[in-house]
Amino acid sequence: MTGTERIRTDIAHNARVWNYWLGGKDNYPVDRAVGDRVTRFHPGIGEVARADRAFLGRAVTYLAAEAGVRQFLDIGTGLPTADNTHEVAQRIAPDARIVYVDNDPIVLTHARALLTGAPEGVTEYVDADVREPLRILEAAARTLDLTRPVAVMMLGILNFVLDTDEARSIVRTLMDAVPSGSHLALTHPTLEPELGGEGNVAAMAFWNENATPPITARGRAEFASFLDGLDVLEPGIVSCASWRFAPASEVAQFGAVGRKP
Ligand SMILES: C[S@@+](CC[C@H](N)C(=O)[O-])C[C@H]1O[C@@H](n2cnc3c(N)ncnc32)[C@H](O)[C@@H]1O
Repeated sequence: MTGTERIRTDIAHNARVWNYWLGGKDNYPVDRAVGDRVTRFHPGIGEVARADRAFLGRAVTYLAAEAGVRQFLDIGTGLPTADNTHEVAQRIAPDARIVYVDNDPIVLTHARALLTGAPEGVTEYVDADVREPLRILEAAARTLDLTRPVAVMMLGILNFVLDTDEARSIVRTLMDAVPSGSHLALTHPTLEPELGGEGNVAAMAFWNENATPPITARGRAEFASFLDGLDVLEPGIVSCASWRFAPASEVAQFGAVGRKP
């Protein structure tokens, strides 16, 4: 089946609803309807999407400018929007190499827009499921030198791996394959009341009955377990809105960056 044949317009898809919340145009009526219903349950959800993208910008800026990382593996890419990983990285380091990975057929059809990086660098797209980390590593190795540090970006993606042991094992497989000096950048929704996560309970229940793929939230301890074995950079595990930034308000989405010692 081609990417276009796999696209369903009768059920909301996460990549397109996320695009809707970010103010994009690459979504269908069913995505906007579900996006609006979720917003009624969790009025801050649009703010979560914007804060997550702003975290991406700050994290990639830190990784390229301060940590000197030149290779990025961005899993759960989403539809192209402003300031995609390769644009942020290559503004700082034109020779940065980026591999994007997503399993949504509509992201695949828009991938060309992601493959327009600086001529000194390389940008590639892999159509793969995060549950196949070995396949992802094999494909990424065609573009990235896995003997040199890689920033693995997993923003808003482990929440679609419902089993926490499986999610941990995916992270471990990826991070075991990259050397010291590699980083893991993570964001993940939570129900923690400290971040106003109560709104996610009804929103996620509605999502799981009406949209795809199914989603889960995680608490601080589970989120922290994904970073086991890594040195978690300052300011630690915080609302992604507050990572190296002083926001007007926080969002119910954890964010952190860890470095492989
Ligand atoms: C919430 S969006 C996040 C997009 C981007 N990382 C960001 O932070 O703005 C999650 C993305 O993960 C993708 N995704 C969901 N489940 C996936 C899976 N099993 N394998 C690969 N990608 C997946 C969706 O298609 C969507 O594009």
